[in-house]
Amino acid sequence: MTSIDSAQVAIDLAHNWHPFMQMKDCETYPPRRIVKADGIRLFGETTWYYDSISSWWCNVLGHGHPAIGAAFTQQWATCDHIMFGNFTHDPAIALSQKLVAITPPGLERVYYSDNGSTAVEVALKMAIQYWYNHNQPAKRRIICFDGAYHGDTIGAMSVSSQGPYTQRFESVMFTPIRIPYANEDDTLAALETVLTHHAHTTAAIIIEPLLMCAGGMRHTSVAFYQQVRALASAHQVLLISDEVATGFGRTGSLFASTAAAVTPDFMCLSKALTNGQFPLGVTMTTEAIYRAFYADYTQQKTFFHGHTFTANPLGCAIANATIAALEAFDWQNQVAQINTQLTHGFQQLANDIPICSHPRVIGTVAAIDVHHTDNRALFHMAQRGFDHHLTLRPLGNTVYLYLPLVTARDDCAHMLELLRQVLQSLIKPR
Ligand SMILES: Cc1ncc(COP(=O)(O)O)c(C=O)c1O
Repeated sequence: MTSIDSAQVAIDLAHNWHPFMQMKDCETYPPRRIVKADGIRLFGETTWYYDSISSWWCNVLGHGHPAIGAAFTQQWATCDHIMFGNFTHDPAIALSQKLVAITPPGLERVYYSDNGSTAVEVALKMAIQYWYNHNQPAKRRIICFDGAYHGDTIGAMSVSSQGPYTQRFESVMFTPIRIPYANEDDTLAALETVLTHHAHTTAAIIIEPLLMCAGGMRHTSVAFYQQVRALASAHQVLLISDEVATGFGRTGSLFASTAAAVTPDFMCLSKALTNGQFPLGVTMTTEAIYRAFYADYTQQKTFFHGHTFTANPLGCAIANATIAALEAFDWQNQVAQINTQLTHGFQQLANDIPICSHPRVIGTVAAIDVHHTDNRALFHMAQRGFDHHLTLRPLGNTVYLYLPLVTARDDCAHMLELLRQVLQSLIKPR
């Protein structure tokens, strides 16, 4: 580390509390100071890293995208922040119109918040109140799938998989109906049984379609998602699709729901919505849901929820620019090319490295399981990744790349080679 790095990092450690981290580990592995982000690279004072997990699964178009920067600057000069209660503004009007046009047919209403967890909270609360407004207050339970992750606020955590991250909060979370996730057939059978017995007390099912990300980059099929949709409809239960991580081309279609031709009752978006450049969350829903809240004030059907930064104009302008830039770019072919490279590369890793198995790739997301007797080895792996210019954050024993859609062929090949070196170093002493 340079002296500037050490001095700045010392101040960081004197004040900052970093997410998901045991701060004591920073005595050994202090955070790396980034001074510039450009394209798919992050630069420190003396070294650089590939943004190989898209800055927590957000970045699709690279950092420093000029059109996004220009949109931000222009919006800032025009109208930076106003409240979205009583007021509206052009960036939100344009963004909602665009989102309605590009998401599955039937999603016609847009509710803004700040991040992925709040987008999920909004969907959960709307689903519960929808039934209340329809004089069916008993329908208030939520069905979720084991292995899913929907965020870290209390409601989102309640419907996520339970484990070390959530166990301290058990007493304050609500209890959903959890469907064990083993294989698709058994899971669907379990879901059907639960719906048969509990649909009358269930408001909604929540799902991460096609890809359960934080749960270990587990794939589920288009048919599985379609069956969940069919079961939800058949049993009069709403369907919430959490596309916070899968939206905007990540899995090869604009949305996972587009690939499956499924219209959920709620779709949650965030992350790549702004290319990761502004905190913004969206919960889209149908006209039918919206209408259940539309009444004289005295009927008490209003959705009383909101956030200070709801539909912040800067965020909406950035989202508009992100979607425009995505549409102007041949992302389908680019994702297909990255996907082919990753599929071949991860298969080779599984063939060549004895501790690696179960390679799986969807869109620009590639994962592999690593078997190691030292359970801290994968924790140390993030550091080995940095030493090899890679950003890695293994999920349990799953190591993955989650590449920006603009990743060039040579960079993808380089990252695969670097990952091979990192994985091989796990079977050799350091
Ligand atoms: C599928 C999914 N839903 C919700 C969230 C929560 O989003 P946020 O971290 O913005 O609160 C995440 C975050 O990784 C996610 O992957």
